[in-house]
Amino acid sequence: RIPVIIDTDPGVDDAAAILMALGSPELDVLGITTVAGNVGLSATLTNACRIVGLTGRTDLPVMAGARGPLMRDQVFGKYAAIGAFPVPLLGGPAVVPSSENAVRFIARTARAAAEAGTPLTICAIGPLTNIALALGMHPDVGRGIRRIVCMGGAIATQGHRTPWAEFNIYADPHAAEIVFGSGVPLVLFPLDVTTQALFTEAHVAEFRARGGAAGRALANLLTEYDRSDPERYGRPGGPLHDPMTIAWLLRPELFTGRAARIGVQVGGATSGSTFADFKAPQPRSAVITGVDEAAYVALVLDRIAAHGAG
Ligand code: BDR
Ligand code: CA
Repeated sequence: RIPVIIDTDPGVDDAAAILMALGSPELDVLGITTVAGNVGLSATLTNACRIVGLTGRTDLPVMAGARGPLMRDQVFGKYAAIGAFPVPLLGGPAVVPSSENAVRFIARTARAAAEAGTPLTICAIGPLTNIALALGMHPDVGRGIRRIVCMGGAIATQGHRTPWAEFNIYADPHAAEIVFGSGVPLVLFPLDVTTQALFTEAHVAEFRARGGAAGRALANLLTEYDRSDPERYGRPGGPLHDPMTIAWLLRPELFTGRAARIGVQVGGATSGSTFADFKAPQPRSAVITGVDEAAYVALVLDRIAAHGAG
């Protein structure tokens, strides 16, 4: 099984990614670390605890990390004013958060993994603040991380937070610069690929019908926080950005990508814009550029449905 830490700012598609990971026996999820992003830190922690609560995984540590970005002014997502997901949308008991700081947990777990020779995968689906801080804590931390699968950036396509920048990177570009420059291999899932797969109302109905309490909660969230944008996507439905990182761990053959050195613009009008140098010598990272939409959607549906079985 692949040892994974999910660093997240739930967030509706974060919720889908967490539920998908916990419905996937190939993954050994070691902890859920939260960061401020879509909403403030206490709301991302509450949301993560409620999402994990839907799965009954009371053994899984869920904890809070950075309250805000390293250097820039804090920005939130579109639904910042709502904060934590309204209780009736999710239902079910929440797990109790662990008191360990998320940054310390990532650093401690990575160092132990380096020592054991079983380096971790970090699934980064929020601003990169926690991961940048953890990488700075001790040289062994980077050695204990096999790769970071990261939803973030926009390479050839427009951003959505600004014309140049995707939210996760825009929200903490200094952290992204540290992570991208750390030497830890990165697999980046920019908007270019995450917007190639859209989930329609029929898919939401399938989450509800097949996924038990977890599927019903996800369907409620997707109905409440409409993600469709026909003007942008040219057809009905909306993307689920964050679960693509999980899908790639399970079925990399569904994706195409290119090796690249990945960078980020920090400061100025284009702050948070990302670029990929496909001609860099011996790049250690990759940008995912294409996905088999039908197979990806089916995989997400199946893994959410795993929560409804039995
Ligand atoms: C990313 O930002 C948030 O809106 C989502 O949770 C996702 O991680 C998409 O740009
Ligand atoms: Ca997210």
